[in-house]
Amino acid sequence: MTETQVALKPEEVQQPIRVHQPERELIRLCRRAVAHIDEKQIVRELKSGMMQMALDGTLADIEYPPPHPERYARGLCYADPWNRFSIIAMTWNIGQRTPLHDHAGVWCVEVVVDGDMQVVNYELMEEDSAGCCRFEQRETILAPAASSGALLPPFEHHIFSNTGPAPSHTLHVYGGPMSRCDIFEPIDSQHWRRLHRALRYDN
Ligand SMILES: [Fe+2]
Repeated sequence: MTETQVALKPEEVQQPIRVHQPERELIRLCRRAVAHIDEKQIVRELKSGMMQMALDGTLADIEYPPPHPERYARGLCYADPWNRFSIIAMTWNIGQRTPLHDHAGVWCVEVVVDGDMQVVNYELMEEDSAGCCRFEQRETILAPAASSGALLPPFEHHIFSNTGPAPSHTLHVYGGPMSRCDIFEPIDSQHWRRLHRALRYDN
């Protein structure tokens, strides 16, 4: 694969970044999208652009982290120097899933590059001072290759899992750095305990 110099805006020249062509196309898409003020417009533009890039095979050429035997793997693909967005590539072994989690109040667009994923959305109904939360389960979405979804806070709680018969890859664009989030540990069928979690990269 040819390594290519990213075309930088004048104010970015002091921080040259060398990335491969597919990453370069995705970064350009993200830069165009985050120029909008309205977050709904940002995620709409990213969803449509990333689905197209999944369909034409561009996203398949991005570098994904190797599968991890015990948990899904996260690889940092690109972090915008102004914290406007970050791009994270993930690899999921069969049956691997997230816990119920939030997105730290940041918008997110997710696209399935290959495999079959499932998204179960939850709505946070109430929380007491000890971090005991009551959630109600909302829709369950089957997400095949080239499908995409978005989360806009305060609707930012879900469980994401690989329900297919093979490993899968997904690509995630967040509206800022995503180095931490909160996960929710089940207490009973409706109540969950909020826990803070630092997120790590596998690359
Ligand atoms: Fe998520």
